[in-house]
Amino acid sequence: MSAEQLAAVFNAGIREFTRLTPQIWGPAGQSLIAQLRLRPGDAVLDVCSGAGASALPAAAAVGPDGLVHAVDLADDLLEEGRLVASDRALHNLDFVRADATEWEPPSTVPDAGYDALACSYGVFFLPHVDQSVNRLVQLLRPGGKVGVTVWRRGALTDLRRAYTDVLARHLPGAAPSGADPSPLSRFDTADALTDWLTGFGAHTVEVTELSNLLPATPQLVWDLVLGGALRAPLLGCDDAVVEKVRLDLLALLTERDVETIDATTLIGTAVLDR
Ligand SMILES: C[S@@+](CC[C@H](N)C(=O)[O-])C[C@H]1O[C@@H](n2cnc3c(N)ncnc32)[C@H](O)[C@@H]1O
Repeated sequence: MSAEQLAAVFNAGIREFTRLTPQIWGPAGQSLIAQLRLRPGDAVLDVCSGAGASALPAAAAVGPDGLVHAVDLADDLLEEGRLVASDRALHNLDFVRADATEWEPPSTVPDAGYDALACSYGVFFLPHVDQSVNRLVQLLRPGGKVGVTVWRRGALTDLRRAYTDVLARHLPGAAPSGADPSPLSRFDTADALTDWLTGFGAHTVEVTELSNLLPATPQLVWDLVLGGALRAPLLGCDDAVVEKVRLDLLALLTERDVETIDATTLIGTAVLDR
């Protein structure tokens, strides 16, 4: 998906995306920031920040002497993040609309670079993921930290399969749903994620698993479709078609005895060698 398409999809899904925060984005963002062990005064770059699931706890962790740049393509999510940051008086956090692959640190960032890079559920959207992440890693100071969250292998699989089958019935020819699955296998197990992070010149790699098995309620299922990249094939579709997809998807999940949505997530952090 192009940057414009991603922005359109995530802006359109802000209501559903926000409903997923307490169950999915929030716990992962908090865990990522805890595992990064940020220090007061640190400068943090949070890419694919959305509404700040990891950027908001990062801002609290680094305190008023630190700074967090939260970068995303989707204006509506950024605006949501700004509101929450303002409510919490987190004045050290800037939400900026930009493409992470083109981000240049402003002059407020120390010459040596950021202390940490965070990206929660975002790396799989970046084109040429290794190249993109490598470029971002170059924005860190020597000994800086990198942290990502990604879906663990098998997460959301039942939902994706059922959704793909339903789309084939109602929207034959629709693009494969969701983020390009090809890079996912590069970092969807603890070993693969460890190797992947090590490849950026990192040591002290730590990968933990955040088990997240959620009852497959109709609301959660549909929020997962509309609140993220799975929404893409439905953009611009008739309401009647969208409703048929929703009903068929729920029926198919029931027929397949899918009672749980596996949203288990890997949290990987590493310290740079250089
Ligand atoms: C699944 S959301 C995760 C948002 C947030 N990190 C969280 O955990 O709640 C993925 C986000 O990546 C953003 N994104 C995708 N590609 C991007 C890019 N090239 N530059 C900046 N943001 C991007 C999307 O706009 C979307 O908000």
